[in-house]
Amino acid sequence: MFAAELVTELEEIRARFPYPKAAMVPVLRRLQTEKGWLDKETQAWVAEFLSVNAIEVHEVVTFYPMLYADPVGKHVVHVCRTLSCEVCGGKELWRHLEKKLGVTRGETSADGKFTLRAAECLASCGTAPVMLIDNVRHEHVGPEEADKLLGGVG
Ligand code: FES
Repeated sequence: MFAAELVTELEEIRARFPYPKAAMVPVLRRLQTEKGWLDKETQAWVAEFLSVNAIEVHEVVTFYPMLYADPVGKHVVHVCRTLSCEVCGGKELWRHLEKKLGVTRGETSADGKFTLRAAECLASCGTAPVMLIDNVRHEHVGPEEADKLLGGVG
């Protein structure tokens, strides 16, 4: 299913852990980097690779917001929805991004450029509101700053 070189890399990742299941998140992240998202076939492959049940892999994929069980756009935008951000401009940021991109949470813009997703606390509450673009954190993001950031990666 995957190129031999990639499988070798995944085997090296697996070997760094005391037991195969412990390598699940790094293996999934590596495959997501390769494929963009983690479809059912990939999840099933990982289950076999790590000698776990497929449902265990699916639970991990759907638990962590940084893992994608569905296709995503070219860029993934996560906006913190936890309290500090919500009360410090996060709601306005959400409204702005939903309007700008023409999507609601979890959706991808019609041009396929951006997927807008919610994240729990991004560990920077003192610099709220916080968002990630392709896993790079941006702080004190208001609507104007968000426009600049999206324009910079679009
Ligand atoms: S509440 Fe948003 S970073 Fe902590």
